[in-house]
Amino acid sequence: MNTPTQLPRLGLLGFGEAAARLAKDFSQAGFTNILGYSRSGAKAQPGDLVWQRAEASGVTLAKTVGTLARKTDIIISLTPGKSAVPALKKILKHLRPDHLYVDASSNSAKAMEQAAALVGDAAKFVDASIMGPVDIMGLKVPFVASGRHAAEFRDRMTPHGMVINVVGSKPGDASAMKLIRSVLMKGLAAILLETMEAARRRNILDEVVEDCSVTFNDIPFQKIIRRYIGGTAVHCERRIHEMKECQELLHEMGSSDRSTRTTIAMLRDMVKMEMPAKFPVEPENIHPVIDALIAARDKAN
Ligand SMILES: NC(=O)c1ccc[n+]([C@@H]2O[C@H](COP(=O)([O-])OP(=O)(O)OC[C@H]3O[C@@H](n4cnc5c(N)ncnc54)[C@H](OP(=O)(O)O)[C@@H]3O)[C@@H](O)[C@H]2O)c1
Repeated sequence: MNTPTQLPRLGLLGFGEAAARLAKDFSQAGFTNILGYSRSGAKAQPGDLVWQRAEASGVTLAKTVGTLARKTDIIISLTPGKSAVPALKKILKHLRPDHLYVDASSNSAKAMEQAAALVGDAAKFVDASIMGPVDIMGLKVPFVASGRHAAEFRDRMTPHGMVINVVGSKPGDASAMKLIRSVLMKGLAAILLETMEAARRRNILDEVVEDCSVTFNDIPFQKIIRRYIGGTAVHCERRIHEMKECQELLHEMGSSDRSTRTTIAMLRDMVKMEMPAKFPVEPENIHPVIDALIAARDKAN
């Protein structure tokens, strides 16, 4: 059990839904004197929503960013993405080199690089991305963190219940990871929509769901990634023909074929990159295929 003296003094820059929920869990984990700052919080009166939120989560609302910085060791910024750099600019002159400044706003990799450059050596900057819903998961919500000081953030906060995975080496890597993950998650949703629209139009929706689920349910996702990427490198040429038939079917039914057209375009790219010649059999892991794809695309650009 940690004694209060071992606990870092926490500051939350931005005090909305995420900050309030994390603060509540931090308080339950034994943190005292958590400070929060937001523009509305600085002006709040007893009875205001933000005041009630602060009281319920064991947070004292700071009147200025200067106070927040002076009385804390670790500052977690939880503003909306577009406010992260303006909020940083406001607090910057109050930061100390021993401050850990964790930008956990949802932001572009570029904005994180800009924030890290602004901070320079004024504090220890960490790019952090929150990978789940804070209101539901609280302190157990997974964070990914990057930059020179990400390991320090992990080492100081995981003993207090946070879940922090260090990824990449530079500020921007953690935020890029969250966006790159969305390429898959949101793209998968788009392909599912296209598939299920077509299935419904043929009145075989439940059957298609069942059939696809059998394929996916029992195979670990790492294996699916390896098989789908390796298999496409080997078989891209003949898959174009099949996907053109899919497109024709969708077209005849008046169904969306956007994702299918993208699939055909990607398969054609792979043929142009001579993937079947480079990969007559599926490789053991995905690295050689992805590296060959990057090399060919960079050469063409
Ligand atoms: N909530 C989640 O589950 C979740 C999950 C993943 C990621 N995130 C990310 O975490 C961040 C916070 O999310 P949230 O849901 O807590 O948002 P929110 O409820 O909208 O809270 C944002 C807070 O930032 C404050 N703020 C805005 N501009 C500011 C500035 N210039 N200086 C200081 N404070 C400022 C706001 O108060 P004032 O306007 O009064 O200053 C408010 O207290 C976002 O970037 C969000 O994308 C949240």
